[in-house]
Amino acid sequence: MKWSFLLMVALMLGCMQRETRDDGALARETFTEQAAKGRQIFADSCSRCHGDQGEGTKKAPRLIGSSEGALPLNPPRDGKERRGQFHTAQDVGMYALEYMPPLETGSLTEAAYWRITAYLLQQNGIDLGNQHLDRSVARTVALPRPSLTTQR
Ligand code: HEC
Repeated sequence: MKWSFLLMVALMLGCMQRETRDDGALARETFTEQAAKGRQIFADSCSRCHGDQGEGTKKAPRLIGSSEGALPLNPPRDGKERRGQFHTAQDVGMYALEYMPPLETGSLTEAAYWRITAYLLQQNGIDLGNQHLDRSVARTVALPRPSLTTQR
């Protein structure tokens, strides 16, 4: 009894410490680092529907390959969840945060979604280098629209 209590306290302290350390590290994390971590999170949580290279499967649309029509401005015709347009990286990140993975949206932290978004942007030809991608920065990043104007 006493031991299990001590163990619990130790575990809690461990978690708190990790949280703080993570927070500090998060602010310093560059787009390049975020994208590298995002690649792994995408592989674990998204690729089973969206494909190993984000190329899309029968289950879910393509997310990588803007010249092949990834992340189109308008929602797919047969789409269920998506109603809004994708103008910026913020639109994509917030959509994923709210709806993806379907039925498991609570499973990832917001930081994880910006890491995945960084990965998707990078694979779609956008590189923010040493900047840190978060909600407000994502709002300033227009999605690549080959043969279309990217102006809003
Ligand atoms: C169980 C299958 C499944 C998993 C896992 C999944 N998705 Fe999806 N995703 C879908 C489906 C289905 C749609 C299309 C929904 C719609 O149009 O209403 C979609 C749509 C999207 C879109 C919008 C694409 C577009 O062109 O409209 C984004 C962005 C997205 N998913 C990101 C993610 C991310 C990021 C993850 C991992 C955290 C993820 N998804 C995991 C099934 C999945």
